[in-house]
Amino acid sequence: GIYAQGMFAHTRPEITTDLSRLESQAAGSLSAEAMGYIVPSAGSGSTARANSAAFERWRLSPRMLRGSAERDLSCTILGTKMPAPLVIAPVGVQTLAHPDGELATARAAAALGLTYTHSTQASHSFEQVAEVAGDRWYQLYWPTDRDVCLSFLERAKASGYSVLVVTLDTGTLGWRPADLDRGFLPFLKGEGLANYFSDPAFKAKLANEEPATAVMHFAQMFSNLGLTWDDLSFLREHWDGPIVLKGITSVEDAKLAAEHGMDGLVVSNHGGRQVDGAVAALDALPGIADAVGEQLTVMFDSGVRTGSDAAKALALGARAVLLGRPFLYGLALAGQAGVEHVLRCFLAELDLTLALCGYSNHRELNRTSLVPAPKS
Ligand code: FNR
Repeated sequence: GIYAQGMFAHTRPEITTDLSRLESQAAGSLSAEAMGYIVPSAGSGSTARANSAAFERWRLSPRMLRGSAERDLSCTILGTKMPAPLVIAPVGVQTLAHPDGELATARAAAALGLTYTHSTQASHSFEQVAEVAGDRWYQLYWPTDRDVCLSFLERAKASGYSVLVVTLDTGTLGWRPADLDRGFLPFLKGEGLANYFSDPAFKAKLANEEPATAVMHFAQMFSNLGLTWDDLSFLREHWDGPIVLKGITSVEDAKLAAEHGMDGLVVSNHGGRQVDGAVAALDALPGIADAVGEQLTVMFDSGVRTGSDAAKALALGARAVLLGRPFLYGLALAGQAGVEHVLRCFLAELDLTLALCGYSNHRELNRTSLVPAPKS
């Protein structure tokens, strides 16, 4: 389609189809503060670099003459039907990228039949997003206040979010020099707090309606480093759908997730935004998939930039990948249309990669689909 447009209508896509270049293109549409919040990672950035480097160390090994003319990438993940093993990662404060924020992303996902994950730190509330979204999951940042936590779970359930994704790697914010140097944190300006500000349990706790009071109250209940594995029973009691733990990078924790009756996990280091010098998410994936892949739905994010990257993660044992920064760059460049462009390119590239590697179905990908790159 894109080639034909270039040939006959002499038009080209306004946003690059080179998904690895989206970041530099989006830089032109974002303020320095927004760039500083979205792009960099914790500390020296070594975790984010390790995430990318880990993909480079695996090479796909294309196979020929395998009759891959027809492909089927559809799947069902935790009861949600998907056209491809791709989920929109939970990302907070999306109005930093574009005024339409989460509404644009949720609409774009719905247009392609993909599942959108709603962050607790969103700029639009559960209910606002539910009005425009298709299949949707809810990502919990577990507030220290039980009433607010319960209210979030109830509202998510009531507005049709089917899977609970509990992000564990952000018990408090990581050391993020790009934001620290600017003294910039969107939440302290009241951004990304739509779920809180619209919450009856949250409002009931406020001494007065001053925005500054509400922000301080939020800040008190955000950091939750005291949680332990025993606390998960509380979520089981109050959420009757599947529960996924996001931010797992050790085999030991993956086994604990299984022992504690969880349904799935996302192998992720939050795109390198939390612990500097941490293990690359892709390096953690195969061991975790081997240990618990039969019992739990193992998913993956952190460093996925292209369809080819997704194929590698699937080959190393992920049942689906979550896409983070790339869709946000599309959002920054052109709102809903930009997100759709990125998602279409991503899906097309994944499909083409499978076709050219000789697969009719992403489930055929396995360890033999990859070879380690020679050490340089
Ligand atoms: C995130 N991520 C995130 N995760 C989460 O569970 N809740 C959230 O609110 C956010 N917010 C957020 C904001 C921004 C600007 C970014 C870039 C990321 C993490 C996200 O879900 C995912 O784990 C990473 O984006 C994956 O890494 P890559 O692919 O972006 O490198």
